[in-house]
Amino acid sequence: MAKMWAGRFSKEVDETVNAFNSSISFDGRMYAQDIRGSIAHATMLGDCGIIPAEDKEKIISGLQGILADLEAGTLLMDPTAEDIHMFVEAELTKRIGDAGKRLHTARSRNDQVALDVRLYLRDEITEIRKLLLSLLKTLTKLAAEHTETIMPGYTHLQRAQPVTLAHHLLAYVWMLLRDDSRLADTAKRMNYCPLGAGALAGTTYPINRKQTASLLGFDAPVANSLDAVSDRDFCVELANALSLLMVHLSRFSEEIILWCSWEFKFIELDDAYATGSSIMPQKKNPDVTELIRGKTGRVIGDLTTLLSMLKGIPLAYNKDMQEDKEAIFDAIDQAKLCIKTFDPMLATMRVNKEKMRAAAAQGFINATDCADYLVKKGLPFRDAYKITGGLVARCIQDGCTLETLPLEVYKEAAPQFDEDVYQAIALETCLNGRISEGGPSAQAVKEQLALANAAIEEIKL
Ligand code: ARG
Repeated sequence: MAKMWAGRFSKEVDETVNAFNSSISFDGRMYAQDIRGSIAHATMLGDCGIIPAEDKEKIISGLQGILADLEAGTLLMDPTAEDIHMFVEAELTKRIGDAGKRLHTARSRNDQVALDVRLYLRDEITEIRKLLLSLLKTLTKLAAEHTETIMPGYTHLQRAQPVTLAHHLLAYVWMLLRDDSRLADTAKRMNYCPLGAGALAGTTYPINRKQTASLLGFDAPVANSLDAVSDRDFCVELANALSLLMVHLSRFSEEIILWCSWEFKFIELDDAYATGSSIMPQKKNPDVTELIRGKTGRVIGDLTTLLSMLKGIPLAYNKDMQEDKEAIFDAIDQAKLCIKTFDPMLATMRVNKEKMRAAAAQGFINATDCADYLVKKGLPFRDAYKITGGLVARCIQDGCTLETLPLEVYKEAAPQFDEDVYQAIALETCLNGRISEGGPSAQAVKEQLALANAAIEEIKL
């Protein structure tokens, strides 16, 4: 494709440089945003009397035609074009002649690309938030079904104290709600229009930046022309929000991987969301969750790419900034794929309540409650802790549990023990006694679930 900036040059650009420089293979995906931005720009140029009214009309209908043809697949992008902006402008001029050559008045590709990326990310943030909302609903639905499903809570991956599956799932609901608010926040902070900043120093034409900003749904124009073309903070913020979202999915994935191992067997994935082995006939592997764990590293890499790309470049535009797109697009693509797969995988998995309960019955997760029993009988907590520790050691030696340890043994350890200790250390008692706000008792979890549902209801897309 012939260069629009060819005037100053006496030679064609080297073919390797051309391919090296070109970004259309990855920025082509912003064609709709590029056209939308150009329509707003042309409208403003016409309304301000900077280009003739009939040229404005020709440009708008020409651009609409290009959009329709790209969408229908009847117009293909030229892979030798320098970028999507050059491609659309050249195609427009091919179609409408001289009027097309007026489109780039009072504009630079620097403000144009800054605009396109903002428009593109704004649309994608909404898409990601929709997917996240569906995942949140899947989780709260599952939680509502499992407020009585007792499982061990862990610290150091050692059985610690009793919780329910509902309580465990709700922990992820709160993490994902924070992810959603970070995404909403990113969209809000980036909603300012860079158009009209020109290459870096504005323009001498009497443009109306407020008009283009409002036509494109922005809150206001970016206040500083240098900042408008140099800022990619919103890419970093989005990549950061997506990295943290991925970290949450990755931690959850790690638990799913553990839970469907033979050692746990807390859950069984639906056959549609698991894979087999090419050699071992017995295998059913949680590949989806392993891929999510793996892709998390990749999205964190995208964030690092963006931060490193920005840290050394002076104001204003530098070509390094073309590297923003592959990184942020990849982060978006991977995060979307992960949520889209994770959500139905969770919705279809089978929960093995018996296995969860059996695990909760082993591992002395009622030991704290046994100590608390003594505290309620008047002992200081530290003494009660020590006595209970001795009883646990005795159980391990005798191969029994606190529930099956004979009352004489309890009484030998502390005379305060009585028959009612068995009731006090029963799993249901231990769980439902945890009535503190935000705790795992069925009652507290129902209140928590109501809070989570209210927060989900408040999400506006
Ligand atoms: N393809 C370029 C990018 O993505 C567009 C901006 C080019 N501007 C320039 N001054 N060469 O960053």
